[in-house]
Amino acid sequence: MSETAEATATENANANEQGDQSGPVFSVRNLWKVFGPKADRVPGDASLTELSQSELREKTGCTAAVRDVSFDVHKGEVFVVMGLSGSGKSTLVRCLTRLIEPTAGTLEFNGDDVISMGKEALRQLRRHRASMVFQNFGLLPHRSVLDNVAYGLEIQGMPKPQRRKRASEMVAKVGLEGLGERRPGQLSGGQQQRVGLARALAVDPQVLLFDEPFSALDPLIRRDMQEEVIRLHREEGRTMIFITHDLSEALRLGDRIALMRDGEIVQLGTPEEIVANPADDYVRDFVRDVPREQVISVRRAMRPADAAEAETGTEVAPDTLVSDAIATVARSGEHCRVVENGRMLGIVDHASLLTVVAGLDKDAGDNAGEDAAGEGGKGREVAAV
Ligand SMILES: Nc1ncnc2c1ncn2[C@@H]1O[C@H](COP(=O)(O)OP(=O)(O)OP(=O)(O)O)[C@@H](O)[C@H]1O
Ligand SMILES: [Mg+2]
Repeated sequence: MSETAEATATENANANEQGDQSGPVFSVRNLWKVFGPKADRVPGDASLTELSQSELREKTGCTAAVRDVSFDVHKGEVFVVMGLSGSGKSTLVRCLTRLIEPTAGTLEFNGDDVISMGKEALRQLRRHRASMVFQNFGLLPHRSVLDNVAYGLEIQGMPKPQRRKRASEMVAKVGLEGLGERRPGQLSGGQQQRVGLARALAVDPQVLLFDEPFSALDPLIRRDMQEEVIRLHREEGRTMIFITHDLSEALRLGDRIALMRDGEIVQLGTPEEIVANPADDYVRDFVRDVPREQVISVRRAMRPADAAEAETGTEVAPDTLVSDAIATVARSGEHCRVVENGRMLGIVDHASLLTVVAGLDKDAGDNAGEDAAGEGGKGREVAAV
């Protein structure tokens, strides 16, 4: 995320929240959700927790949909949860506002203990602070677009003139100006999803939670909606938690991605970290077809400069994508210097950039660091991405 978005994110958080400002939005530790008979006994019993999903089911009749998961969601980030069907994504995200009751673990929202919240506090959390956008939109068919968008405000008890005003602002914000009086049935799927988005935004929540909101949309409209989310995020810096099982969607939207398998988070990192350094074969399989040059930055592709190279070549920032650096090198016909705060970190040229495209850097991850280490400790910067 850009620095501007980060700054906006902080402002947005300040505007929305009276609670703890410094910490993460969500802080999750050792969270479990076990479905089935006597589910409570599973998390604390080492002889059960070490079983695989199928062994556990066989022995106890229980499914551990979320298994000992810990993570923080930072203010202003788009946190993507991805994984195959049944890996526990929806269960995990529903646990965050206790739409599903966790079996064990701790859970904080802006430092407030969510597990001990009573009914009223939970209702406040879901209505005002963390809004969910569902895949099936959940629109009311007999109400106009405006009244659908105003629905959350109506529940909050906002008087009609104010809520209609706020709803029309939100309708305009998601690009549906002029369609406010239509019924949902008179809109396309993409437009209906925009109404769902506007409704979630109307209550000005600190966090938006999306459960595969676009998976029912055709690819072009889906792309359009992704752009919309990116635009909204850039403009408002609102924290978002976004479930998808579509890798390209995850890579496009996510500041960080949590990859789930059988209820566990097998890897949590930036798109670049996950593509460049998959934690295991499951993750490697997931990212196999990703165009690496569109995710990996020159920081991972650079090498130390020869004395002759240090004074020439176009300057690029370390987070420049390899694909963009390829275009620059192709245009200029010479290498690029990777420069951060006036300091040169290394060089990228045809060979080092093509190494990334070809995937030959995969096993070399840390070697890049070792190679460059001779150059007065630059190596650490190369390796510590
Ligand atoms: N109410 C329930 N009772 C029993 N098992 C459940 C229940 N809800 C979910 N599960 C099981 O928990 C596991 C995780 O389900 P979950 O819906 O979280 O997966 P998901 O990653 O969201 O999958 P999808 O991509 O298909 O939406 C699955 O094995 C599922 O069968
Ligand atoms: Mg799901």
